[in-house]
Amino acid sequence: MIDGMVDAVLIGTASRGLGSRLALELRASPIQVESKTFPDGESYIRIPEEVRGIDVAVVQSTYYPQNRHLVELFLILDALTDLGVDSITAIVPYLAYARQDKRFRPGEAISSHTVIKILERLGARRFLTCNIHKEEILTHFTIPALNISATPAVADYIKGRGLQDPLILAPDAGGAALAEDVARRVGSDHAVFEKHRDKETGAVETEFKKIPVEGRDVVIVDDIISTGSTIANVARMVKSQKARKVLTVCIHPVLASGAEERMREAGVDQVVGTDCVESPVSHITVAPLLAEALRKSL
Ligand code: R5P
Repeated sequence: MIDGMVDAVLIGTASRGLGSRLALELRASPIQVESKTFPDGESYIRIPEEVRGIDVAVVQSTYYPQNRHLVELFLILDALTDLGVDSITAIVPYLAYARQDKRFRPGEAISSHTVIKILERLGARRFLTCNIHKEEILTHFTIPALNISATPAVADYIKGRGLQDPLILAPDAGGAALAEDVARRVGSDHAVFEKHRDKETGAVETEFKKIPVEGRDVVIVDDIISTGSTIANVARMVKSQKARKVLTVCIHPVLASGAEERMREAGVDQVVGTDCVESPVSHITVAPLLAEALRKSL
């Protein structure tokens, strides 16, 4: 391996598009993982090419169905190690279970730590992810682990939309840094809302905030959209204050069932995400940013 470069990109089932784009960016051989699901629901994985002695980047995101995508990733890593690869870089653009990063209630499993332990045990030698929910999680890796930000790609997308006097909004304090970075790159201002989440039910409440949105296009940015409740709360508030268009751009469009309808009913005109999660709204690719990170080495 020279300066972080890899010989092949092993493309998992959850990242067929991003994996292919990354292989092109890196001019590395793309290898499509073969997979199937047995009638009882168990996963099958096959690496269809010779990999002995080469440096491989595995690209497999772990969005819904996250348990299946994770098990596939585990099988891929173990098979590659067993087949004698020289090194494995695990690229997991969306890391499942990253939101359970501490014990919020006594007795809870800290699932992000569990996932990290397994990835390392199965032979990952470097780890790369994108806009992880909390960077602190990476300190639990003992291998080099890097989190890149998709904000350059997100900002380029927003700049290309021809928006009217855009205002960038963070739906909660945790998203403030992301919104600030996007706003700086777009050359606009930003505002941050306050959100409270019930630790047992998961229900979210957003504090009312008066902001200068009348006649302006607003872009609500967030790292993850799951149920869409966080975004819907903000959309209703900016619509009631006469915002013109409401766009929402996220890094990880996890989009649980009913999320898009919830956001549209609240006044969102368009939902866009990156290919960290492959969905019908994933119009922004992070492949060039991942390639750049690999070239610079970890
Ligand atoms: C949480 O703090 C995250 O940044 C997102 O705001 C959250 O995961 C979104 O969840 P939902 O779409 O279910 O409201």
